[in-house]
Amino acid sequence: MKKHIAVLAGDGIGPEITDGAITVLKKIAEKYGHEFTFEPLLLGGCAIDAYGEPLPAITTERCLKSDSVLLGAVGGPKWDSLPGDRRPEKGLLGIRKAMNLYSNIRPAKLWSALADASPLKKNLVEKGIEIIVVRELTGGIYFGERGKYVDESMGETAWDTEKYSVEEIKRITKIACELAMKRSKRIISVDKANVLESSRLWRKTVHEYAEQNYPEITVTDMLVDNTAMQIVKNPAQFDVLLTSNMFGDILSDEAAQVTGSIGMLASSSLGDGTRGLYEPIHGSAPDIAGLDVANPIATILSAAMMLRDSFSLTEECDAIESAIARVLDEGYRTADIMSEGMKKVGCREMARLIAERV
Ligand code: IPM
Ligand code: MG
Repeated sequence: MKKHIAVLAGDGIGPEITDGAITVLKKIAEKYGHEFTFEPLLLGGCAIDAYGEPLPAITTERCLKSDSVLLGAVGGPKWDSLPGDRRPEKGLLGIRKAMNLYSNIRPAKLWSALADASPLKKNLVEKGIEIIVVRELTGGIYFGERGKYVDESMGETAWDTEKYSVEEIKRITKIACELAMKRSKRIISVDKANVLESSRLWRKTVHEYAEQNYPEITVTDMLVDNTAMQIVKNPAQFDVLLTSNMFGDILSDEAAQVTGSIGMLASSSLGDGTRGLYEPIHGSAPDIAGLDVANPIATILSAAMMLRDSFSLTEECDAIESAIARVLDEGYRTADIMSEGMKKVGCREMARLIAERV
């Protein structure tokens, strides 16, 4: 199979972790007889430095011509004081929107070798944790109208809007339902319907759509504040967790930490076609950039998701996941998941070990 992959390494540790994923993808290509080509493109802070904008037109254009996109992370203190519409993060939101990637899947699972890395008590972890966060990615408060003004009595004031249409809610519900059908047939839909109008529409639409189209699925509603608590109280109760853009952003970080480290959590973003964008859920970690200590596993797992979800290469995806499990079982750890008696390795070495075991 021939595939052309756009690589948006981004900022901070972005280049190191995407290099790690490319090392593993090259090994897959060699072993299974595929031809993967990689095209580096600028996004985020590095694009601001080179072009004066976080998402240059050429990046969007080339991503839309690729078979799929691999992304590292964007942002850093260097660009923190720029106005909102020129920050590196704006580039990330822009490419998600330009590719119409409304469905973001973030699987938070506990790797058996990493049970000790979870901050939760053993009895909670023992039941096993696998939370599939289905996050709406191109709507809600991230893309609603916003503004700033000086109020006569209150002074400087800023506002953002959370907005969802029935169509936007239905299409992400469909994704969650399809996933749930292959799993427990249970969805927990997270909202703040006791306060927000947009959440009340969310709740109503999710139920109507699921009942009409997937009668076998049970949808349970959970308020977002309670969900934040339940994830640390009883994480085993979750399977598919469906939610909005902002709640998904917050809860996926929490789910990641509960399963050991945010350095382990991958994500896929898809729209209606097979061209997707695959990225770790963690950020650019500027404090450790260039030190070769970052954990490349979330990015390598994201590359594995690309093989499965964009290219239908299920066997190759499984091969990467098994290689990661083996490396962890053999005791290799990056700093973020290091524990006593384990063998500490850097970013490049971790990627090499995984590639070697593919
Ligand atoms: C994520 C990140 C991004 C988001 C930031 C960098 C804009 O936190 O992918 O979770 O909020 O979506
Ligand atoms: Mg986030």
